[in-house]
Amino acid sequence: MLSAQENERLTRVGRGTPMGELMRRYWQPVAAVAQLDEHPTLAVRLMGEDLVLYRDTRGGYGLLDRHCPHRRADLCNGVPEERGLRCHYHGWLFDGTGACLHQPFEEIARPEARFKDKIKTTAYPVEAKAGLLWAYLGPAPAPLVPDWDLFGERGYKQIVFSEIPCNWFQGQENSIDPIHFEWLHSNWSAALRGEPGARAPRHLKIAFEEFEWGFVYRRVREDTTEDDDLWTVGRVCLWPNCLYTGKFEWRVPIDDERTLHVAWFNDPVPGAAPFAQPRIPYWRGPITDPATGRLFTSHIMNQDFTAWLGQGTIADRTREHLGESDRGVILLRRRMLEEAAVVARGGDPKAVVRDPAKNVALALPRVRTGRGALVTPPGQPRPMIFHVGQPPEIAEEMQRIWAERSSA
Ligand code: FES
Ligand SMILES: [Fe+2]
Repeated sequence: MLSAQENERLTRVGRGTPMGELMRRYWQPVAAVAQLDEHPTLAVRLMGEDLVLYRDTRGGYGLLDRHCPHRRADLCNGVPEERGLRCHYHGWLFDGTGACLHQPFEEIARPEARFKDKIKTTAYPVEAKAGLLWAYLGPAPAPLVPDWDLFGERGYKQIVFSEIPCNWFQGQENSIDPIHFEWLHSNWSAALRGEPGARAPRHLKIAFEEFEWGFVYRRVREDTTEDDDLWTVGRVCLWPNCLYTGKFEWRVPIDDERTLHVAWFNDPVPGAAPFAQPRIPYWRGPITDPATGRLFTSHIMNQDFTAWLGQGTIADRTREHLGESDRGVILLRRRMLEEAAVVARGGDPKAVVRDPAKNVALALPRVRTGRGALVTPPGQPRPMIFHVGQPPEIAEEMQRIWAERSSA
């Protein structure tokens, strides 16, 4: 249980709030590279800031205040040029640093005023990595986007975005909550299938430990021992807002009351021949079934979203009752607030990467075998069990690749 004040501190992400300042020390995935192939500007709301993401005609990316500093037109309607984004209303041109490069009429009417030199709009750096566009809203110098080893592994990659109308921290608490696998996923799935008597193997023992990139949690279930990967390797609650289980699930705060869920998958393609995707596809995973108006509950992430939403827009942690199953949640909250205090004192918080020599294929513990592994049937791509709504063309493309590669 937390006080109302502690709950505020843990959940708010606006500029100047403790957690907002902590989260601004890390790159956040905000869009897919492929999204800007479809349209070169995209509205992005990140930690309560309304921004426009764009790609200029030379292929560079920028992230600016969504509203033009002239008279507040929406720069999502802007026109990308070689050097930046031009406002559609009166033609002011901005580059990726927020500098105003051109004010067409001002430069005719009063060039000596050099009015453009007095104008600077909010601008943030953007980087492309692993098919995602990453944004950094913190102070310079920006750290590095972590180069996780999975990003460079051979396989078919896809990205799924879902917008969840609740606070991001409910999602991150779920990243360090092992008992929910037994109930929210296994037992509830059985009940939803009409098998109310079915019972998943119970958890007998859980353990949590912190490491360089977050936390590992280990489990022993009725059907496993301490020799199983569930215990020896464990799973990773990846600092500060991700779950890593051989795929990534980032819980990116749109604002205090909405979360952009970004899931990134890599399915190993059969065979050893080189495999590269010219473009990592993305899709939107819906959360509500339009036919019934109810939340989807058939897929793993949709079950998670249902639990987070059920806790309320911002869970009232003054009314909870934490038990032994919540030791990880307690650890996560404490460490988040401690690292927010580090930032408030002017320090660099946990898991900020600055050394390029070190930032190469950073390894994370990964369950590969045993009970914890998600088994792929031989010769077939793994079905999308995590999100409702995979476009058929992605499933078909995977089937085609797997068929070709398995017979080669
Ligand atoms: S509002 Fe953007 S140039 Fe006038
Ligand atoms: Fe889950």
